[in-house]
Amino acid sequence: MKNNKISFKEIVSHAKQYGFVFPSSEIYDGINAIYDYGQYGIYLKNNIKEYWWKSMIQINENIIGLDTSILMHPNIWKASGHVSKFKEIFLYNEETKSSYRLDLLIENYFKTNLKKETKLKHKLRKYLDKKLKRNETYKILKLINKIKLIAPKHKNNKLTKWTKIYEYNLMFKIPLKEHEHEKKKFYLRPETAQGIFTNFLNVLNTSKMKIPFGIAQIGKVFRKEIIARQFLFRMREFEQMEMQFFIHPNQEEKWLEYWKKKRLKWHLSLGLGKKKYRFYEHEQLAHYAKKAYDIQFKFTFGFKELEGIHSRTNFDLKNHEKYSKKRFRVFDKEKKTVYIPYIIETSVGLDRMFLAVFSSALKKETIKDTDTKKERIILKLNPALSPIKAAIFPLIRDKRLISYAKDIYQNLNLDFILIYEENDSIGKRYRRQDAIGTPICVTIDFQTLKDKCVTLRFRDKMLQKRVLIKDLKREIKKETSMNQLFKLLR
Ligand code: GAP
Repeated sequence: MKNNKISFKEIVSHAKQYGFVFPSSEIYDGINAIYDYGQYGIYLKNNIKEYWWKSMIQINENIIGLDTSILMHPNIWKASGHVSKFKEIFLYNEETKSSYRLDLLIENYFKTNLKKETKLKHKLRKYLDKKLKRNETYKILKLINKIKLIAPKHKNNKLTKWTKIYEYNLMFKIPLKEHEHEKKKFYLRPETAQGIFTNFLNVLNTSKMKIPFGIAQIGKVFRKEIIARQFLFRMREFEQMEMQFFIHPNQEEKWLEYWKKKRLKWHLSLGLGKKKYRFYEHEQLAHYAKKAYDIQFKFTFGFKELEGIHSRTNFDLKNHEKYSKKRFRVFDKEKKTVYIPYIIETSVGLDRMFLAVFSSALKKETIKDTDTKKERIILKLNPALSPIKAAIFPLIRDKRLISYAKDIYQNLNLDFILIYEENDSIGKRYRRQDAIGTPICVTIDFQTLKDKCVTLRFRDKMLQKRVLIKDLKREIKKETSMNQLFKLLR
């Protein structure tokens, strides 16, 4: 049987060949884990963004949006714990000449050697936590050698010696002025969340929001990822779509469950397949989280985190109180006391969403061209997310057909993102649109001159139909409107 599976290499190559994603600075040999979005990629990315934004802000009365700065006061990162705790620990293996993230190595070790929750597993975890807290990393190195951990890339699964353990902070540090004192250095934000927390009082004072309510934001973040070889999955500059939901402390469980369900429903509405998602509860928690779940997605390289849903308790607001000396308290009408709100966070990477949507939509098809068989890749995107909503073609390069087609294009391009094309055969033009995910092609032929009808060809339906030019707007809207997705969220 023929293998119709799309490989990771094919995904990266299609993204580049068809103007979705380019490696950044390519003419200078590129830069690891940084990418540019091309002429079609930007539309797909914006459509995912719009769908998330409207699902948060427009549909929920109690969620508002912000757009906060990337550069913030350096104390914010001290208060948030990022200066002291946003670190990765790496182990260096001499033989494979590679560094490995400690948490991933341990997770892998547990998975293969200690599948079930055993006393030993529990003991190991406790020991690691203790040594990390005390900064006794040399003891961890000793342990790793003692339990004979094998380097994942080692050819013969042979035992190797681990020679070095080191840690570093994932935040990019930058001086705001030349010769700035080390202590005054700024950071490029590693999460958008802190801009929301630090504006909590501004929102309370200027809006009608009352607990429970949420603040959402989309924005660029930066991280010094060391293992960054997975295309859009792990980048050094990427975008996050985050929502922080402020609640009463005794409602933590209720809202955590609520947001887990609500976010999964959002992902399922995109129609990428129910089996591609699963929840994963974190054993190793980020420094700010009391409980954390991932919505994992089945990428071509396995189930991996797509979105994080965290209970951050009052960790952030409490620490901002301490550092800023401002009071982050709200009044509890029932108990007649004040409290610092708890926070449930939903955080999804926009670029990871792009990868999930783009890679799932790529399908291989075999087509017959007269007497030869050709393989082609078609991008079966949800029409609401497609970059181009419709392509307008004159059947051939005839003056009258061109004039009609251009008129239609001009009349509709205020409502939709369209493409006009007159070169090559109609078959080749259809195929180019299939490769970029355009759901509808509109062809103007000689019959159009008589009956004012055009032929609509639908990418996925194996169907063509003729419609009056005056009904085109309605037809394209029906097929591509984002409202179809919103309805699934109700
Ligand atoms: N504010 C919480 C937070 O930042 P996170 O789990 O570190 O939590 C949230 O990140 C989401 O951001 C992840 O679920 C993932 O989708 C995305 N993300 C994290 N690191 C990324 C990277 N290096 N490249 C692309 N996306 C990333």
